[in-house]
Amino acid sequence: MRVTVFGCGYVGLVTGACLSELGHVVECIDIDADKVATLQSGTVPFFEPGIDALLQNKNLSFSTKATAPDLCIIAVGTPLAENGSADLSQVFAVTDLISVMEKPPKAIVMKSTVPPGTTAKIAARTGLETISNPEFLRQGSAVQDFMQPDRLVIGASSKRGFALMEQLYAPLNLPAERIVNTSTNSAELTKYAANVFLTTKLAFVNELALYCETVGADIDEVTKGIGLDTRIGNQFLQAGPGIGGSCFPKDIRALAFQSKALNHHLEIVQAVIASNDTHQNAMLQKIVNMCGGSVSGKRVAIFGVTFKAETDDLRNSVSTVIIPALQNLGAKITATDPMGMENGKTCFNGVEWKKDPYLAVESADVVVVLTEWELFRKIDLARLAEAMKAAKLVDLRNIYTGDQARGAGFEYDSIGRAGSIKG
Ligand SMILES: NC(=O)c1ccc[n+]([C@@H]2O[C@H](COP(=O)([O-])OP(=O)(O)OC[C@H]3O[C@@H](n4cnc5c(N)ncnc54)[C@H](O)[C@@H]3O)[C@@H](O)[C@H]2O)c1
Repeated sequence: MRVTVFGCGYVGLVTGACLSELGHVVECIDIDADKVATLQSGTVPFFEPGIDALLQNKNLSFSTKATAPDLCIIAVGTPLAENGSADLSQVFAVTDLISVMEKPPKAIVMKSTVPPGTTAKIAARTGLETISNPEFLRQGSAVQDFMQPDRLVIGASSKRGFALMEQLYAPLNLPAERIVNTSTNSAELTKYAANVFLTTKLAFVNELALYCETVGADIDEVTKGIGLDTRIGNQFLQAGPGIGGSCFPKDIRALAFQSKALNHHLEIVQAVIASNDTHQNAMLQKIVNMCGGSVSGKRVAIFGVTFKAETDDLRNSVSTVIIPALQNLGAKITATDPMGMENGKTCFNGVEWKKDPYLAVESADVVVVLTEWELFRKIDLARLAEAMKAAKLVDLRNIYTGDQARGAGFEYDSIGRAGSIKG
């Protein structure tokens, strides 16, 4: 099939490159001419493991203008608008463009995350078959997730729509039980439901971790105990500094906004948002407590600014809350991140950047782990403690054990474990 993918971001580029690997002829379109030029030169403008090699495919091209495909896939951004709704302006800009194409495509495929009802609205607006095909890939393992998905969710309103998607994904050879054919509204809500469910699980574990500090329990022991229950499962049970990232925070808020607008309050969704805000404040407090009650004039070394490891993405990362909050309290910040420094430099003011973690802690009063990079896990803690002005470590990813950190000479705090200082 001839496919045009609109949006060369994390989702669009991976989608386009993988579809070309599956044998389709793909052009990837982006409004950002610099990004297109970078891709045309064979360079990926962001960090995503495994994507570089796929750019060599002869069936894959990049442009700022679309030609005449069979399918138009929309993978543009749907950020949060000021009022808390999903900002669909990029989506509508693309659909307006598609609707005036000289040769209309057989269908529009909506891969961007959009609130229930959007795909149907686009079908009405364009008069074209419009299919919802939400994406579930994870940054950091996006290529593998696309090529070996747990499931494909296809929302269509006609047999023809489902048949087109069957043709698109046939080379994946997925067993029928992993393909979920639904209405467009169900497909759109499935995406939000998945993200909100995962967010809820994380928020619950984070709350539980702080409760462990109150009752003298250990979150690692508790999550191991519940995770072995197959009804619960052991994934997404890792306590951390709070929910961040390019999708979870915006998607949960967009769903909350839509439900409010429809006068149907989703109480758990609201509670998760509030719980996460409270948790991030508690994390800030942990850093302040470690500094003896005030960070004013103190230098804080931040290990990791991306929202998780294996990405260069800082969108809604917890670092974007914690760093400015520390600066407001008078702290000076030095930060290090294996892949996030370039984006970090445009995201934060007044931060000193160091490539080498050992240099980042020089003259620091405390080091704070915000992202669980392998580099930080493997660090020589004794050497780190030695390099610091004061050997204090706040591990907000629980990547070290108390024995390791204290054994290396650190005053140590983590989340919800024996010896943790109440956040
Ligand atoms: N990032 C993820 O892990 C992930 C996972 C699943 C779903 N999603 C959803 O996929 C969508 C895209 O996310 P992303 O992370 O790839 O976003 P992104 O910001 O990385 O990429 C969006 C791209 O669209 C381009 N664009 C904007 N307007 C355009 C236009 N009119 N024509 C062509 N290109 C245009 C931008 O320049 C940008 O390159 C969002 O709805 C997101 O919620 C993201």
